[in-house]
Amino acid sequence: MLADLPLPEPEPAEVRIRIAAAGVNFPDALIVQKKYQLQPKLPFVHGTEVAGPVDAVGADVRDLKVGDRVIAFVGIGGFAEYVCTPAAQAVPIPNGVSDDTAAAFTLTYATSHHALFDRGQLTEGETLLVLGAGGGVGLAAVELGKIAGARVIAAASSADKLAAAKEHGADELINYTETDLRDAIKTLTNGAGANVIYDPVGGSITEAALRSLAWRGRLLIIGFAQGDIPQLPANLLLLKGAAAVGVFWGDFAKREPKANFVMLGQLFGWLATGKLKPHVSHVYSLAEGPRALKALLAREVIGKLVIHP
Ligand SMILES: NC(=O)c1ccc[n+]([C@@H]2O[C@H](COP(=O)([O-])OP(=O)(O)OC[C@H]3O[C@@H](n4cnc5c(N)ncnc54)[C@H](OP(=O)(O)O)[C@@H]3O)[C@@H](O)[C@H]2O)c1
Repeated sequence: MLADLPLPEPEPAEVRIRIAAAGVNFPDALIVQKKYQLQPKLPFVHGTEVAGPVDAVGADVRDLKVGDRVIAFVGIGGFAEYVCTPAAQAVPIPNGVSDDTAAAFTLTYATSHHALFDRGQLTEGETLLVLGAGGGVGLAAVELGKIAGARVIAAASSADKLAAAKEHGADELINYTETDLRDAIKTLTNGAGANVIYDPVGGSITEAALRSLAWRGRLLIIGFAQGDIPQLPANLLLLKGAAAVGVFWGDFAKREPKANFVMLGQLFGWLATGKLKPHVSHVYSLAEGPRALKALLAREVIGKLVIHP
């Protein structure tokens, strides 16, 4: 529902952003269904990340001024014309990066960076399998896997999603609606399996992926877009000397802010130099917000969606 609300005023340490673009993420679709682990009090404005110019600054803000273009991960309040956020969490947009690209960046790339480099300890020469590789976090994982020097196998449900993964650097492609995932991985890895598996999908595919893990492999649990939370047979972990590793970027950012700050610095550096290329496949108006969320839930989206207020 669209509503007119009073213009928010920044607190002393906050800035107000005139939102040019807001990124749409799967958690936005989960929050409105009351299926997300963090549930804001009603009523609330959803929308987790935004980009746009600073429109007003609080009395204590020194590092930003009106007119500076920033990206901010706001948690809620992003599907709106204006939002206030702590100045410390507003990052200048690198020159040459559009508002749409900036708005589509933080959540997916931070999640995949934290997953692959920190939780998964992915190293050069290893094989990375990315499930849901044409989606938001999946495409980011493909790009970051290549930066890590891994051989990246992208797995997804359609030719279009796989074409996007290839464009973003994937070395091998598996369509898991047409091909048996385990057989395909066995063939592509000469029976060794994948060293790291990035799983934002969940459901029945997780066990097939776990069975395709190499000795000392790491299965990264990112999310359950398919809807079902899988039960893992612990004996497979034992037999493979493997680990199932949980990934929760939001809490990592809160509990380990210094490490998160260093990681975001590296990501924004790669964005500025064009090493990372967030893929925005469709732009919606604010009034079309529900359509954007429905497209995500219908498995239709390649890369990211953006809303223009
Ligand atoms: N752990 C964290 O810190 C963190 C951070 C951000 C997001 N997440 C989670 O990661 C997951 C993916 O987020 P995202 O923004 O990348 O979403 P997305 O762009 O919609 O990608 C999800 C992918 O999952 C696959 N999928 C399979 N069955 C599906 C179904 N029934 N409905 C929707 N998608 C289905 C789709 O790929 P195919 O069609 O190719 O199978 C889709 O591209 C979500 O569960 C989200 O909550 C976790």
